[in-house]
Amino acid sequence: MSEQGHGHGHQHGHGHGDLDWSVMGPVMEREAEVSLPLYREIAGWAAERSERVPGPVVDAGSGPGVVAALLAEIFPDREVYAVDAEAALLERAADRAHRTGLQERLHTHRAELPGGLDALPAASLVWAGRSLHHVGDQRAGLAAFGRALLPGGHLVLLEGGLPPRTLPRELGFGRPGIESRLDAAQEE
Ligand SMILES: C[S@@+](CC[C@H](N)C(=O)[O-])C[C@H]1O[C@@H](n2cnc3c(N)ncnc32)[C@H](O)[C@@H]1O
Repeated sequence: MSEQGHGHGHQHGHGHGDLDWSVMGPVMEREAEVSLPLYREIAGWAAERSERVPGPVVDAGSGPGVVAALLAEIFPDREVYAVDAEAALLERAADRAHRTGLQERLHTHRAELPGGLDALPAASLVWAGRSLHHVGDQRAGLAAFGRALLPGGHLVLLEGGLPPRTLPRELGFGRPGIESRLDAAQEE
């Protein structure tokens, strides 16, 4: 793992300093795994467009590396860098790389975005999945993603928005508002 020097007390936009990563890591992995079919489709789309720009792939704000491993699979001849501020999550990414036999090409790099990407080789693709909104200065984050790209490279930016609603508020049984209660439970 390479590491960008930064001291204690780095603060994500959402103030994650107090999270227990041994609990959150598996939750984040499950969340990402549930979305893998969607991520696979997007990554395939990006791979087609990146063919003419050979170079590494950077997963900026990779968390525990579920997507970084997918990118290493979809880009079988590229180096992939999982970049995150949390060492504990990068350890999970490195474990995943070993479990899946991707350790030769899937590297971890600890950095506090928007800094730290300049330590990596210029990328054919930067993937930022639900990470930009955590970066305090999002404009600087976006600029850093752009600077990290080779000419003709691509940026995949995934962000959320309001929580999705797929059920009516009143289901006809039980208390109304099950999705809001699930959101609250998930947040806790
Ligand atoms: C919601 S998670 C998304 C993880 C992964 N990209 C995914 O889609 O499953 C956001 C990630 O961004 C990382 N992160 C937040 N702020 C960061 C910063 N300033 N620098 C580096 N990583 C950061 C967090 O540690 C976390 O792993």
